[in-house]
Amino acid sequence: MEPYDYYYYILLPIFFFLIRSLFHKPSGRKLPPGPRGFPILGSLPHLGPNVHESLFHMAKRHGPLITLRLGAISTVVASSPEVAREIIGKNDYAFSERTVPDAIAAQPNPEFTLGWVSGDHAWRNRRRICTTHLFSSHRLDALQHLRYEKVQQLLNHVNKYRNTGKAVDIGKVAFGMSLNLVSSTLFSADIVDPEFESAQEFKEVVSHIMEDGGKPNLSDYFPLLRWFDLQGIRRHIKSSYKRLHEILEEIIEKRLNDRAAGTSIIRNDDFLDVLLDQCQEEGSGFDRQNIKALIVELFVAGSDTTAITIEWAMAELLRKPSVLQKARQEILTVVGTERPVQESDIDTLPYLQAIIKETLRLHPAGPLMLPYRAKTDTEVLGYTIPRGIQVLVNAWAIARDSNYWIEPMEFRPERFTGSTVDYKGLNFELGWSLWWWPRSFRHLVGDFQKGLRRRS
Ligand code: HEM
Repeated sequence: MEPYDYYYYILLPIFFFLIRSLFHKPSGRKLPPGPRGFPILGSLPHLGPNVHESLFHMAKRHGPLITLRLGAISTVVASSPEVAREIIGKNDYAFSERTVPDAIAAQPNPEFTLGWVSGDHAWRNRRRICTTHLFSSHRLDALQHLRYEKVQQLLNHVNKYRNTGKAVDIGKVAFGMSLNLVSSTLFSADIVDPEFESAQEFKEVVSHIMEDGGKPNLSDYFPLLRWFDLQGIRRHIKSSYKRLHEILEEIIEKRLNDRAAGTSIIRNDDFLDVLLDQCQEEGSGFDRQNIKALIVELFVAGSDTTAITIEWAMAELLRKPSVLQKARQEILTVVGTERPVQESDIDTLPYLQAIIKETLRLHPAGPLMLPYRAKTDTEVLGYTIPRGIQVLVNAWAIARDSNYWIEPMEFRPERFTGSTVDYKGLNFELGWSLWWWPRSFRHLVGDFQKGLRRRS
């Protein structure tokens, strides 16, 4: 191909979008209001590095339900508890599809993930397996010792640094601990060195995937450009996914060999065993290839989110010594100094719980959640949200809504003491689904976190 042929292929779609955006007239349906936007680019030039923040400011100007164009992608953004209730509560079926970013679609078998597929029968089956074998109260109780162990490793590491006067990179150690939490739950093994010193390949590959997955990608705003992968994100992330799948393949191979050998150590009864059992069941839909997509997803969804939340909680405590002091006092009074805090103490530590809730309110690890897509034309608060349009729920903005929160920008855990807002349930004021599950009213993380609380 001659070099100018490439220009032709790149310029043609751009030309197409220019013409389309100049002449495209909205249909008779009443779309939510929003900024006008530029030809071709739409509102992209108005977005800063933190998209959720830019959308928060747009919502202040145009209202809690806005339509805008991000490149070629028409998007509706919900930024108030009322609108979130309509979209992911009342009309959850109509918004049960996802728009899938190009970086996510680049992985092998994306159709076997949980977060990126529509809520169909196969999805429900995968959810059921996860809920029963990974996040049920029974499983979480049974695995309490693992979480205790990982937290102890983290504390030992911090103490070691404290004795030498060296600074601790909380984000880094929290990420290592979170990866180990997920890997010990899935494989009964630590993926990262317990001392967190030598970041192993697995950790690096997962980090690369998260980095690439988080980059703004032209291919997502101009789907016709996907083919060109102008920023090379698809190419790069594909090689990370490939390597991750190879590592998982080795783990699976080893486990299958152990099982075939029939020795007593073989049966770990961890999530990998559960998935391999499923692979042997006729008609289960699981096989050795596609379970890897689910495992990768659990690593990616579960590690960074947890680490970011821990890092923010620590940052806020350091910024607010009075809050730190109060939390310390509560622990001293309830637990004392003779033993470490355990999961069974959490119910009796309401201030500590309030700190976690306040951290999740102000610093949600998924500020825009995952993008939804309208399955059908749907009426919301007198507007039509047309079929196929991308729908974002700005949890970051919702949790800063001054109609619901007094001094919303302040980190004030006291707002949660005595409050009914919990880790689970429908809490639209928090605006997001850590505590609830739009498509099944039970969020994995809610269940996961439930393991941190005592059950009678
Ligand atoms: C503080 C920790 C966490 C936060 C803040 C968080 C946040 C979120 C958010 C906002 C979503 C998108 C919900 C939506 O758009 O409908 C999500 C989905 C998901 N999360 Fe988490 N998460 C956390 C921990 C975890 C953990 C530990 C796991 C598993 C090991 C996990 C697994 C998932 C999965 C599989 C999905 C996709 C579910 C689906 O759509 O079917 N998350 N999470």
